[in-house]
Amino acid sequence: MAETLVLGIETSCDETAAAVVARSSEGRGRILSNVVLSQIDAHALFGGVVPEIAARAHVEALDDVIRAALADAGVALADLDAIAATAGPGLIGGVLVGLTTAKALAYATGKPLVAVNHLEGHALTARLTDAIDFPYLLLLVSGGHTQIVRVEGIGRYTRLGTTIDDALGEAFDKTAKLLALGYPGGPAVERMALDGNPARFPLPRPLLHRPEPDFSFSGLKTAVRQEAQAASPLSPQDVADLCASFQAAVADVIADRAGLALRRFAATMGDKIPTLVVAGGVAANKTIAARLETLAKSLGARLIVPPLKLCTDNGAMIAWAGAEHLALGLVDGLDAPARARWPLDGESEPVVGRGRLGAKV
Ligand code: KG4
Ligand code: ZN
Repeated sequence: MAETLVLGIETSCDETAAAVVARSSEGRGRILSNVVLSQIDAHALFGGVVPEIAARAHVEALDDVIRAALADAGVALADLDAIAATAGPGLIGGVLVGLTTAKALAYATGKPLVAVNHLEGHALTARLTDAIDFPYLLLLVSGGHTQIVRVEGIGRYTRLGTTIDDALGEAFDKTAKLLALGYPGGPAVERMALDGNPARFPLPRPLLHRPEPDFSFSGLKTAVRQEAQAASPLSPQDVADLCASFQAAVADVIADRAGLALRRFAATMGDKIPTLVVAGGVAANKTIAARLETLAKSLGARLIVPPLKLCTDNGAMIAWAGAEHLALGLVDGLDAPARARWPLDGESEPVVGRGRLGAKV
């Protein structure tokens, strides 16, 4: 069976990543290498990603990361069928580093370039890991994005819901920052919450039961700040209880919003079992994952959470999206633009508010 080999480059946020992925003519995927260099240490001091530091770090690291990805895969540039890179949405300095490098490689080797939408990379990962068919429902919860998308086919995405202010990962990060738990905040909040009482602080559940499956997290973050101020000075137990209460509120909201979207999606599927795919760094959260598992079960749906390494930003998802495009003959010219904003669903109205990446989606 003929396979295509694609190199994928990801530099849109704080991971410098490259990978080589193979795709069979039947649409099966195989990861040959997946190198991810996190810049967390470079940004931790600032409590969040600093765009200029990120772009410079990508410049310094990218050549080595690409070399390592090719070496791990045991392939040479000449063996590749295409070179794919994230062209947006994301921090524009970083996107330019990756996309320009991909263009140079494509030009030098004469291989086609695929300019990949980062969100499409997340959206298609479950086809790489689990070989699922279209259509499916995607819940994308990361530091920069929070949205629910109906994935109909390559390039065919319909956004059902989105955050009207902060992204969910961003809400975790901001909560962690105000409780002095460090960056990135999600894992720290989850760890603290293990010892906390989720019922102690009565935090709001924004947009619960609203008729559209949208999200809002900035009011929740403010409520955490107010409770923290009222209870200060905070004991370790207070911090644990705040984290547990915050996580419980978030889990309620996610289950409610995803449940609404999943019921709508299922209604269009006839007798077929609907599939819900979760992607993005927040998918690592065990409380949220457990709630989604329960939700899927209660609605007779299948839940797919790709391995964490593939839920967070990585090059394999970009290589795979590139391979899916290539299979349809969808390649890009060397004039493909880098885009700070690039909604997956071009038909949807932009919303008020924005995620950490400045991606108004
Ligand atoms: O997908 P990702 O690696 O990067 C992008 O934002 O694109 O997601 C990172 C986000 C951060 O906001 C981080 O705090 C959050 O995912 N995160 C978590 C957990 N692990 C990572 N949030 C909640 N619980 C976790 N265990
Ligand atoms: Zn991402």
